[in-house]
Amino acid sequence: MFIPKQRPWQSPEADVTPKGLYLNRRKIIASGGALALTGLSACEAQSDQDSAASIPTGSRPASGELAHRTTGYQVADPLTPYPAVTGYNNFYEFGIGKDDPARYASALTTAPWSIEVEGHAARTGRFALEDVVDFSNLEERIYRLRCVEAWSMVIPWIGVSLASVLTSFEPTSDARYVQFVTDLDRDEMRGTRFPVLNWPYVEGLRMDEAMNELAFLAVGLYGEVLPNQNGAPIRLVVPWKYGYKSIKSIVKIRFVSGEPETSWNRSAPHEYGFYSNVNPNRAHPRWSQRSERVIGGNVFARRDTEMFNGYSEQVAHMYAGMDLIENH
Ligand code: MTE
Repeated sequence: MFIPKQRPWQSPEADVTPKGLYLNRRKIIASGGALALTGLSACEAQSDQDSAASIPTGSRPASGELAHRTTGYQVADPLTPYPAVTGYNNFYEFGIGKDDPARYASALTTAPWSIEVEGHAARTGRFALEDVVDFSNLEERIYRLRCVEAWSMVIPWIGVSLASVLTSFEPTSDARYVQFVTDLDRDEMRGTRFPVLNWPYVEGLRMDEAMNELAFLAVGLYGEVLPNQNGAPIRLVVPWKYGYKSIKSIVKIRFVSGEPETSWNRSAPHEYGFYSNVNPNRAHPRWSQRSERVIGGNVFARRDTEMFNGYSEQVAHMYAGMDLIENH
C-alpha cells in the first residue's frame, strides 16, 4: 500500500530499516549480544538469507521467509531484538510464565488451519487460511506493542490489513462489532487445562475500529512465518490498544450487533474495559500507566507512555466525545 501522507510515526520507505540490517542485528544478538532481560529463553539463530523467498500465489510456507513489501509504517525507536520478541511472550494457553509460550507453543498444529466466519455477513462459513489471507500480497508494518503490564516492544510484523479481510466477507449494516476467538485444544495447549481464563480466549472491536487503517492481521514477523508463541498462524495487531486486544491463533470471526464479550473484561471488568485504548491518564487499579519498560534494552530503559500508544492522529477521531476514563 502506498501511503501518500507522511505521519509522525512514519518515515520514507528508504529510511525503514533494511531487512538485511535487522537480520544482521539479530545475528549479532544471537551470537552473544547481551539481552538485559531476565527470564528470556535463548532463541536459536535463524537463517540469515537476505533475499526474500518467492512464494507462489496462494501458497503458505510452513516456516522460513515470507515474501513481502515494505510500506511506510515505522516507529522512531530501534526494533526490539528478535530473541526478546519471540522469547518474552504472553500466551496464557501455554502457561502464564513469559517463557512458557516459547517453550510449549511448538505443540500447536498450525497447518492446515481454517477460520470460521459467522454472523452478519454475506459470506459466512469455514475458510482455509490461504483463502482468507493473500500470501502473495503481504506487507511489513513496524508497530509499537504496549502491554497493559507497562512494557513495550517495537515489532516488524508481516501481514495484511484487517479491513481488507473483513471486507471480503461482505459484512452487513447489522455488523456493528466483530469478535475474534482463539483456538482451544486442551491437548496441544497445556495452559488451557487450568482455569486461568474462561477459555477460549475472545476479543472484540467496534466495526469502525476494525476497519481503521492501523488494524492488522499478522502472519509473520522479522520477515518470517509467525512463530507459534507469537500467535501462529494468524493473530490480530491493534497498536493503539493494550496488547491483550491483539488476540492470537484466531479460529473464528463473528460479525455481531452488540458489544461482544472479551476475555480480560469478563475476568476482571474493573481492571480491563472493552476499549482498552492505551491511556497514560488512566492508571490500572494496581499500577500506573504513565511510563513503560522498554523490553530488550537496558534493564532501566523506560519511556513515557503516549496516548493511544502514539497513534492519536489515526484513531482519536473514533472516540470524540467519549469519556475515555469511564470507557476504559
Ligand atoms: N492471545 C491469546 N489467545 N492468549 C493470550 O494470552 N495475550 C495477549 C495478546 N494476545 C494473549 C493473546 C497479551 S496480554 C499480549 S501483551 C500480547 O498477546 C503479547 O503478544 P506477544 O507475545 O506476541 O508479544
